[in-house]
Amino acid sequence: MAAQRAAGEKRILCVGLVCLDVISVVDSYPAEDSDTRCLSQRWQRGGNASNSCTVLALLGAPCSFMGSLAPGHAADFIVADFRRRGVDVTHVAWQPHGDVPCACCVVSAASGSRTIVLHDTNLPDVTERDFERVDLAQYKWIHWEARNAAEQERMMLRVERHNSALPPAQRIRTSVEVEKPRDELLPLLAHGDVVFISKDLAKHFGYGTAAEALRGLRGRVRPGATMICAWAEEGADALEPDGTLVHADAFPPERLVDTLGAGDTFNAAVIFALSGGQSLRDALTFGCRIAGKKCGIHGYDGIV
Ligand code: ADP
Ligand code: FRU
Repeated sequence: MAAQRAAGEKRILCVGLVCLDVISVVDSYPAEDSDTRCLSQRWQRGGNASNSCTVLALLGAPCSFMGSLAPGHAADFIVADFRRRGVDVTHVAWQPHGDVPCACCVVSAASGSRTIVLHDTNLPDVTERDFERVDLAQYKWIHWEARNAAEQERMMLRVERHNSALPPAQRIRTSVEVEKPRDELLPLLAHGDVVFISKDLAKHFGYGTAAEALRGLRGRVRPGATMICAWAEEGADALEPDGTLVHADAFPPERLVDTLGAGDTFNAAVIFALSGGQSLRDALTFGCRIAGKKCGIHGYDGIV
């Protein structure tokens, strides 16, 4: 498919985590210290930025992943899976030391809930130096999953400098997802044309709804930025730079079977729609539609 695309079509780059998800699907969530059997088990490439690449590729967007890996069985599985999906891995930072992060995920068939225990290992994250090797001219959109904030802030500043020399139509659009409620990630809210705030972060600040969170955290994003907050079965809200609130309802699937990566799917679909010129309202609706579809299937095959 990629070969058929017009040469020179600009790509979307996602920077963040890739890990191995070992997923057990159970009929209902087990009690602590019990010994039970699961319905099925699978390995899946995981990590927010990595999952978003899967969805972008399925939507038909040329995309690249940038994150760290260390050679070994887990990385072989992960790279083969990126390739199977048509995700470019040129910018994977191969680390000589450290282990590939791995998560045990329990997906409950009764509720669709996903319980994740991630071992975020000792693998160094990509640095500003790694990012210097990225040829920015190839990209129309760069998305960061907030992790090593100080380095990531410098990557974003590089893109801001690059953009300042270009006419608006040629600038790279940027987005950042702040999901984990960790203080050191908060400076990243001040960067990015689009800032994704998670329900977890919103709750950490004491907000009870997406709209409250967007209004309450508005002072932390830069003027001109759009803020987006997804809220599971409530759908998602966004705040335009002028303060207009936009809402999209969720699209509940017939049966909720697997919510692992719902947020990453939502982010990817919103980025896909915005980068294709759709309005914020349409992008939010598209994000909820694709994420809702994902919640009704195991994994990602069948979201489009
Ligand atoms: P995560 O916890 O994976 O980060 P969220 O729970 O914020 O993700 O959900 C992201 C999007 O996925 C929501 O905006 C919604 O569109 C969809 N979604 C998630 N859970 C459900 C659900 N139970 N029913 C319908 N849609 C859902
Ligand atoms: C889903 C996910 C999983 C991974 C975990 C890391 O959003 O990216 O694939 O195990 O979150 O926090």
